[in-house]
Amino acid sequence: MQNYRLKCLVLVFASSVISTFLMHSYLYYNHERMKLQATEREKIAFQHISEKLRKDFTANSGASSTTQRTLSDLKHLLGNSNQACKHFNSFLLGNLSVNASYKATILEATKAGINLHEGCFQPTHCRSKQKVAVVIPFKNRHQHLLTLLTYLIPMLQRQNIMYCIFVAEQFDDGSFNKARVMNAAFKEISTKWNSHQDGLMRKFDCFVFHDVDMLPENDQNLYMCGKMPKHLSPAIDKFNYTTGYGTKYGGVTAMSPENYRLVNGHSNRFWGWGGEDNDMEERINKTGLSIASVNETVGRYKMIPHVHPWWFSPSTGVGSSYRKIVQKTLTSSDKEKKTEKVDTSGLSNIKYNLMGVQKTKLWNKIILDIRSYELENATIEFARYKGSGVNIYSMSELHKARRQINKTTEQNVAETIRDEPDLVCMPTYHRFDKMTINRTTSMYDKRYTTVYRDLDEAKQKCTEMQTSCRAIVEQVKGRFTLRTTAFVQENNLRYKYGLGEQYDVQEHHYSTAVYVKLCPGDPRYLQFFTEPVMLYGDEEMGPSPRYHTDMFMRVFHATNTSFVYKSQMMTSHRAIMEERVMNKLAEKPWWDSLSKIQYTKTKLVTLSDQNSYEKFAIERTKSSQLLKIRTPVNGLLRVPGCYVLKNSIVEESTSTAVLEWNSWFQMKAVSEDMEKKMLDKMLEKSMEAGRQFNKMMYDKRNIVEKWAADRQKKNIEIQKENLRHQRPQMHHG
Ligand code: BGC
Ligand code: MN
Repeated sequence: MQNYRLKCLVLVFASSVISTFLMHSYLYYNHERMKLQATEREKIAFQHISEKLRKDFTANSGASSTTQRTLSDLKHLLGNSNQACKHFNSFLLGNLSVNASYKATILEATKAGINLHEGCFQPTHCRSKQKVAVVIPFKNRHQHLLTLLTYLIPMLQRQNIMYCIFVAEQFDDGSFNKARVMNAAFKEISTKWNSHQDGLMRKFDCFVFHDVDMLPENDQNLYMCGKMPKHLSPAIDKFNYTTGYGTKYGGVTAMSPENYRLVNGHSNRFWGWGGEDNDMEERINKTGLSIASVNETVGRYKMIPHVHPWWFSPSTGVGSSYRKIVQKTLTSSDKEKKTEKVDTSGLSNIKYNLMGVQKTKLWNKIILDIRSYELENATIEFARYKGSGVNIYSMSELHKARRQINKTTEQNVAETIRDEPDLVCMPTYHRFDKMTINRTTSMYDKRYTTVYRDLDEAKQKCTEMQTSCRAIVEQVKGRFTLRTTAFVQENNLRYKYGLGEQYDVQEHHYSTAVYVKLCPGDPRYLQFFTEPVMLYGDEEMGPSPRYHTDMFMRVFHATNTSFVYKSQMMTSHRAIMEERVMNKLAEKPWWDSLSKIQYTKTKLVTLSDQNSYEKFAIERTKSSQLLKIRTPVNGLLRVPGCYVLKNSIVEESTSTAVLEWNSWFQMKAVSEDMEKKMLDKMLEKSMEAGRQFNKMMYDKRNIVEKWAADRQKKNIEIQKENLRHQRPQMHHG
């Protein structure tokens, strides 16, 4: 009786183990909505495992029928936990069918990751030969991440590998520096993540750097490290699966931490898309290592189709000018420059600031501020009379807000893993009526083509999308769409919201509205000053308003350098003039109307210079320095209108913009009448300037023409002279 009961217990236990196992296997293998079709191999693998379990069970249950059995006793049916895992095993399916345009949902990704705990997986029935960190450098690609993980996780599980998934997100909103993100992630993970949870008290033996858009097509491609750095993705559909597609070490790579240290990681100097992998090839070779590549059958990937958004562009945003220098030397194909190609910058001098960690069931998102400089606070003061401030605008809450990145728990996955967790900004939306709106976003993303009927829903989505949504546009009454950039027109004054280049212009509307997303204190968003700067006095004689900026800049990576403050004023006065002249809308595309009217350049402080350092530094800590900087006073035009003030701090030695922030404000005259007078005055002045310009051009043309005529005359004379000399001598004889 006792025996029978025990047997029953064992049977129930074992069958539940088997069924759980089969259920998991089912989930691994069968993503019905993804249409991963069951192959012959898959069916065989199923048969194989169920057969093994059945046999083991019958063989063991009799022998140990008199002893109490626990779950862990039964685990050996699946393998011995002290045994080394078989990574290349019969669970592997070989070729996988992958749909690169598939948009996996969070639920599907979560289903795939059913056995993950805080982004990590550990085989229970054997000991993985390596503990692998899968590092995914990331910026605004949430959909790609979900699709990647839905495919990748089941594959890694079949490989029996102990691994953790790290999403390494660049915090700031400048151009993407994947190389810096990888270095920072490596440093963070290899120093702090080695013993963070039970059962995972091991160091990482291997780092797989994984582009978020690369989907593996063969699960026999083991995500493990060898002695040499390994290229896991030599064959990509985009390049017709032919190797040598521009890099021998890009996309998906695996390197031991020892080797990564040996090559000094990636260069920190590649802003925007491309090049960092080519530089890595050189580093590997120069260190005496060599690149091992998996073969083209196994190392096959599909790339999720996408257009690179502006933050991939090497020519805009923070770091762009630096990038141009780097491009010339490091990535040059010029053989003579090849010796310069390996950069000294790398893991040894990467500085970053960990902004937060977000743990979900599927990943550990580490948010990294990779900038060397950080704007802690900036106050812009407008003054109409010398010394008396009228409008003071400050971005002071900035730092506090940014630190509020919470660790989420995994109690309810569907709730905690949202589309884009809002890490920073709880924005407000400012409505501008009767605007002309122009969308300048790229078309690659459905998020920007979706039409919302409900404004609140649109706002919620825009909030979730953080910096990838800057404005909501109401093109037709009651129909809202999200935009990365928007242009608005109000009373014939035009200005632009959002970041990025003006590309992919799609729309031109009248009589619609725009809701501009405002994040007070966060320099990644346009700072919006609600109170106008007032213009007093009469239209000619009134005092010119002035402004200066006080800022606190935190320096993490002090080099011997000087900073330059640049401010640039954007307005639309030229367009207003055109309009007033033609009494209709300008024929030209009106986004041309954002003209630069002012540009100042001020040398601020030299970090290495003790005197000026003392003058500007107000606080000094070990890891960073906080500099207080006051810019000299700049004058403003006495013209009413809307302005965008573009501010940047530029590192003088490299001409790199290290900090950028933009603000929007309005100038108003005390009365409408005066406003009109001021605009007329400006029009008069500029028409006069135009006449002068035309006269100058006319005179210049006359001078040039006269010069050309003179020259022609001279030439003819010279020719005649030459001919005279060259005339053959007549010999009579
Ligand atoms: C770029 C690499 C890139 C490769 C393939 C090269 O021109 O420099 O960064 O991986 O093309 O697209
Ligand atoms: Mn890509």
